[in-house]
Amino acid sequence: MNPKIDAILAKKGNQPISQLTAYDYPTARMLDEAGVDMILVGDSLGMMMLGFPDTTHVTMEHMLHHGECVARAVKNALVVVDLPIHSYDTPELAVANARRLMAIGADAVKLEGGVAQEDKIRAIVDAGIPVQAHIGLLPQSIKEDGGYRMKGKTDEEAAAITRDLDAVIRAGAFCVVIECTKHTLAAELTRRSSIPTIGIGAGAATCHGEVAVIHDLVGGFPWFVPGFARQLGNVAGEITRAANEWMSNLKLPE
Ligand code: KIV
Repeated sequence: MNPKIDAILAKKGNQPISQLTAYDYPTARMLDEAGVDMILVGDSLGMMMLGFPDTTHVTMEHMLHHGECVARAVKNALVVVDLPIHSYDTPELAVANARRLMAIGADAVKLEGGVAQEDKIRAIVDAGIPVQAHIGLLPQSIKEDGGYRMKGKTDEEAAAITRDLDAVIRAGAFCVVIECTKHTLAAELTRRSSIPTIGIGAGAATCHGEVAVIHDLVGGFPWFVPGFARQLGNVAGEITRAANEWMSNLKLPE
């Protein structure tokens, strides 16, 4: 297999697996030099970089452009690039677009959904491309799902998400993001899973690892911060402070 993937798999249950998003060269290089295990060029770049209201506006061209900048920066981490909405509507399209992402330097691709995407995940894996799956809250489906809300609160929904986990494992995904599920469900899924689970908004210490959006972590997007985010920096405050200090020192010619 792939040594970078082997290193992630070896950590399962032994050490927490870390994954952060990056969408540009300097951020990706800083995170790689900090020793993050996986860097995700998430389609959250639609909001964080491009000013769209959600991820449903993101295209393959956006992902290729940002993915290439990140891949150029990273030496050690596993680079995962998201397949955006409608780029994997059929198994053939999924494989063709996954190959385009691998061609710009991705080590793996990510797509959203379980049972409904089993054939696409299997097709990509059969083409030799590692897949990170994504179950629970699926941001590309928020319009159909009626917005962002915690998943798995009812027995039916928890059972459906469990079937999604089983489907992505059967299809050959090497690891799986569990987004915004009831925390006890994330812990149950982790006990059940033969592949690493990577949580976001799914509780602390419920999964084999965690993924976070870099802007949420460092305070880089002050206009919206999800309730579950742990903000450990204030990059937006620092940019505003530096800009104000610089403007207040500008002088007219004598
Ligand atoms: O696009 C993204 O950043 C993601 C994470 C929230 C997992 O999919």
